[in-house]
Amino acid sequence: IQDDTFQQKSILITAGPTREALDPVRYLSNHSSGKMGYAIAQAAASMGAKVILISGPTALSCPSGVQRIDVESAADMHKAVMKAVSDCDIFIATAAVADYRAKHIADNKLKKSDDELTLTFVKNPDILKDVAAMTPAPFSVGFAAESQNIAEYAQGKLISKKLDMIAANDITAAGLGFNSDRNALHVFWKNGDIKLAPDSKFHLAKALLALVAQHCKNKTPS
Ligand code: PMT
Repeated sequence: IQDDTFQQKSILITAGPTREALDPVRYLSNHSSGKMGYAIAQAAASMGAKVILISGPTALSCPSGVQRIDVESAADMHKAVMKAVSDCDIFIATAAVADYRAKHIADNKLKKSDDELTLTFVKNPDILKDVAAMTPAPFSVGFAAESQNIAEYAQGKLISKKLDMIAANDITAAGLGFNSDRNALHVFWKNGDIKLAPDSKFHLAKALLALVAQHCKNKTPS
């Protein structure tokens, strides 16, 4: 596929899970495979964009024509995004970023002793919120993995994080969302929304990027 929709545009994408270390051998993470973000990176590159993909640990290889920066934790991802974002026109956050990290990472392997183990977690920085609050901010697209009240929660995030667009996926639907090749998206922007029916993540990526192309023309520099 060759297209020039995003010729001269620079797109920064986050993908995959983050890993929050607990001790030298253990971490807290989630089931994100990175497939959604990598599909968007591949589609954006095929549409002529300069693409930087900031990726948590995944088993995927880097799509051709894409510059990948590997990170582990949410703090690493935040740092890498902030370093790369200044030259970007569009930011798309598909990563499933851990909301919390351990307050203290144990220097040595935690030993089994009592029947209960209590760890204290502290909030991670919100990468997407920080990017969307920049002046000027790139056209900022969030993702929302929801299991209930999908429209309400996605629109809440659109407003609270001051996003230009948000793509919600219903993670209760079998065979879609986390760690699968297919997905279905309900995309919201300020005055509208559209449902993208179940399809491969690559086809959805192209459809989402077509919406981004339409809407980012209207964004006045903030
Ligand atoms: O990787 P796959 O297996 O293909 O699965 C894809 C996916 C289901 C992970 C993806 O489509 C998706 O929905 N990603 C967002 C997951 C999520 O639940 O996000 P959230 O509701 O925690 O956060 C909302 C938005 O803020 C997201 O764009 C997220 O990247 C961003 N965020 C969240 C927290 C944080 N500290 N920093 C962020 O940037």
